[in-house]
Amino acid sequence: MSAIDIRRTDGVGAEIHGVNLADGVSDEDFAAIQGAFAEHGVIFFRDQDIDENQHIAFAKRWAEINVNRFFAAHPDYPEIALVSKEPDQKDNIGGGWHTDHSYDAEPAMGSILVARELPETGGDTMFSSMYAAYESLPDDVKEQIDGLKAVHSARQIFGEAPDTYYNKTDAGGARIGNASVADTLQDVVHPVVITHPLSGKKALYVNPAFTTRIEDLDEEESDALLTRLYSAAADKSHVHRFEWRPGSIAFWDNRSTWHWALNDYQGQRRVMHRITLEGCELN
Ligand code: SIN
Repeated sequence: MSAIDIRRTDGVGAEIHGVNLADGVSDEDFAAIQGAFAEHGVIFFRDQDIDENQHIAFAKRWAEINVNRFFAAHPDYPEIALVSKEPDQKDNIGGGWHTDHSYDAEPAMGSILVARELPETGGDTMFSSMYAAYESLPDDVKEQIDGLKAVHSARQIFGEAPDTYYNKTDAGGARIGNASVADTLQDVVHPVVITHPLSGKKALYVNPAFTTRIEDLDEEESDALLTRLYSAAADKSHVHRFEWRPGSIAFWDNRSTWHWALNDYQGQRRVMHRITLEGCELN
């Protein structure tokens, strides 16, 4: 029998206890962890001590690894993207609500983020449930968005133009990695409400970073509807603030959560290792 102990965290997510990832995970425990991931959207592990090879091996049990096109890679492990902030840097990576890779035709399933160097205080990550966000909408809004599609793009965030999100910060340019790739990507379209490929539940699938507009609505209508949906998505009732400690790991599902890396630790270094997993087309 699996010794895995799954404890819900407030707002969204669950902490997984009773497993040591460095020892490998039995098939039975792995199935329990998969169930928790699908149900809760983000899972957390504490007091783990895994090296880069173990991080990669755990990730490969879930799906193929998506080698990040934009972020600087670990010098020895190209599968691992570095999400770092240096003491002299003011801005960080991921410092606003978003979900990764919605600009891809087959958005990444999720990311496994391992804490490597943490500030003394601060640097928490917030997560929000897009299952709960959808559920919280009144019926008339659910009807309004049923069947709508939204356009997503990476260019306004990672692209090379001087007014893109990262180029207006000191986390852009060579620090983030290889921004020019974003300019070659085409916009993609996804349903505003998806049926989650693992859980079968409905989830809201728009986000303030990468969604540029709702298809077939004029700009004003699209902006008004997105503002309404973002307000539901960010509601505190389904947000969890995850406090990192040495040995912490967060594994989130991009299709059912948003996340936001808080930038409240000026003058200190924060280094995280991120592996992102391939996903699938969303319907
Ligand atoms: C990210 O958006 O992937 C970064 C999350 C974090 O650094 O906490």
